[in-house]
Parts: sequence; structure tokens; C-alpha cells
Amino acid sequence: MLILGIETSCDDTGAAVFDSVHGLRSHKLYSQVEIHRPHGGVVPELAARDHIQKLLPLLESVVSEAGAQRNDLDGVAYTSGPGLAGALLVGAAVGRSLAYALNIAAVGVHHMEGHLLAPMLEEQSPEFPFLALLVSGGHTLLVDVKAPGRYRILGESLDDAVGEAFDKTAKLLGLGYPGGPEIAAAAKAGNPERFRFPRPMTDRSGLDFSFSGLKTHALETVRAQAMDRQTAADIAWAFQDAAVDTLVIKTRRALKQTGYQRFVVAGGVGANRLLRQRLAKLGADLGCSFYYPRPEFCTDNAAMIAYAGGLRMPGAGDHKETGFEVRPRWSLRDLTPIETSA
Ligand code: KG4
Ligand code: ZN
Repeated sequence: MLILGIETSCDDTGAAVFDSVHGLRSHKLYSQVEIHRPHGGVVPELAARDHIQKLLPLLESVVSEAGAQRNDLDGVAYTSGPGLAGALLVGAAVGRSLAYALNIAAVGVHHMEGHLLAPMLEEQSPEFPFLALLVSGGHTLLVDVKAPGRYRILGESLDDAVGEAFDKTAKLLGLGYPGGPEIAAAAKAGNPERFRFPRPMTDRSGLDFSFSGLKTHALETVRAQAMDRQTAADIAWAFQDAAVDTLVIKTRRALKQTGYQRFVVAGGVGANRLLRQRLAKLGADLGCSFYYPRPEFCTDNAAMIAYAGGLRMPGAGDHKETGFEVRPRWSLRDLTPIETSA
């Protein structure tokens, strides 16, 4: 099956062609960062309008780069939630119209299921079951992944997502958007000895997270200092150290609890180098295998949507329905197991 993937849930326009036999054939991403940067964050209406302009040429280009023609496609997978309503509607409208015109199946994909399954795009991919640390701009989840579509949430953030805390702290420090890569870059010049931030909720049992206190701690530290470049770098270092440490402590706990020998990191914050290093060390310490997508498949992309859509297509894909809906709020808990022929 040749699947065209479409991702428009937030500020990246993504397109990909995935071949269920031979793997990923092509993928492209157009980032809207420059459009939103002057506003210090994503402006939903600007995001939707730009997806409208960029999506069709991007789709044409991935199909031709895959060495295929439109008529070779067997299905279209588009992100149908969670995300920004206007942005999601662009991908859904284009995806379903295309499937209707080509008389092929279309399926709406859960964006976080896409992230969760992104490690499967790599040559070194885990067998099921495994533990997933899913960390993005909107979610911080520890998930027991029993099989495709069979997910049990073991822990989640009770307030801000970890990516959101990176973004807000970057803003406080006068760094740009998106905050994660900016904090990571600033932290390189940071002095590890100067500040120590708390590791929220690690002194209590359980696998839930809380990151709003860490952001507040950053705010109080900023207020108490005369700010200059070095101080911003030192705070960035202390914030990143604490955020990463907290994720690693809970992942260790979840591995012990589940007894799983395999774990993955996925989602935008999974691109963070310090996090990957410390998780790799955790894996080595516990004798567990650690898997991760390449950094460009941690952040938003359409390859993961094409992959997840390909799994859900048999039986679920439909192009005859002309109406469609998007789900800006949609829990991973509401997903159904994927029927596999095995
Ligand atoms: O998965 P993603 O691209 O979009 C969502 O589904 O939310 O994740 C975006 C989040 C943002 O909060 C961004 O600051 C964060 O991932 N991020 C990072 C890094 N790269 C992206 N956080 C820490 N370090 C990074 N290198
Ligand atoms: Zn995402």
C-alpha cells in the first residue's frame, strides 16, 4: 500500500509517502517558524492560512520525489486531532477531497499516536510491548504500549506539558520561539554550579508530572537576578537539567514498575540531546534497550502520520463519507486497538 501522509495540526506543514512494504519513500516539512516568531508563539489563524498556501505544492512534490504518480496512491492519512482546529481542518479537507477524487481510502490519524509510533520508522525499531515517554508541546505522557493501538497511560502532566515549560521559560529569558531548541542552545554556555532547580513530584510515588512549578521557579530566579547573557545561560542550564532529570527519574520508575526491557522517547522534546543522552545511560544502567526516532521525526512530521495511517487504513479508511470532522481535543485513551492480521 502506498499512503500519502498529511500533517497540519500546528505550525508545520508536513507531507510524506509511505510504502507499507518498502518503508518511507519521501517526506518534506515546511516550517512556519518565521511567520510566528515575531508574535512569540503560534498564531492559529496565521497557521491555518499558511497551511492552505503550502500544502498542495508540498503534496505534489513528495509524490514526485517518491517516484510515483497520484494514481499510484492507495490511501490518504491526515492528522485529525488533537491540535489547532483551523489548521487541522486544512489537512482534513485536502486529504478527504483528494481521496474522494482518486477513489481511495482516507483515514484521520491521532497526532500523538503518530508521535508514539515514530520510532517504528527507524531501522532500529522496538518490538511490542514497550514503554514510551511521549513528550511534546502539549503532552507529557508515560505510556504502556502493549501493541499498536493498545495504549495504557501510566503517568501524565497534571498541569503544563514539558515542552510548554521549555517554551515559557525561554520566553522569560528573552530567548526566541520555539523555546526548546533555544534553551538547549543557551544552556551550552551555562555554568552548572550556579543554580539548582527542583525536580517536581519526584519525592512522591507515582508516575504523574507537574511542570508549572519549574516554570515559576525560573520566573522567581529571573526576578531575583540582574539579567545578562551569562545569567540567562545559567538559568537555561539549570532548567534543562531539572526538566530532563525529572523525566528520567519517572521513566526509570515506570521501567521498574512495568518490568519492560524496551523503551522509547518520542515527541518534540525527544529531540533534546541531553534527554537522549541521559535516557541512553538509563537504558545501559538497567540493561534495557532504548529506541528513538531521528530528531526530525521527534518533532512534527508527516512520515509518522503516513505510518500510523497505514496501520489504521485496512477496514477504517473510507472516502465515500463526504462529511468529516476534526478533534482539536482528543485523548489517546479514546483510541481503539488496531486489528492486525497476525
Ligand atoms: O512534537 P512537537 O513538534 O509538537 C507538538 O506536538 O507539540 O513538540 C514541540 C515541542 C515544543 O514545546 C518545543 O519547544 C519542544 O517540542 N522541543 C524541544 C526541542 N525541540 C523541540 N524541547 C527541548 N529540546 C529540544 N531540542
Ligand atoms: Zn507534535
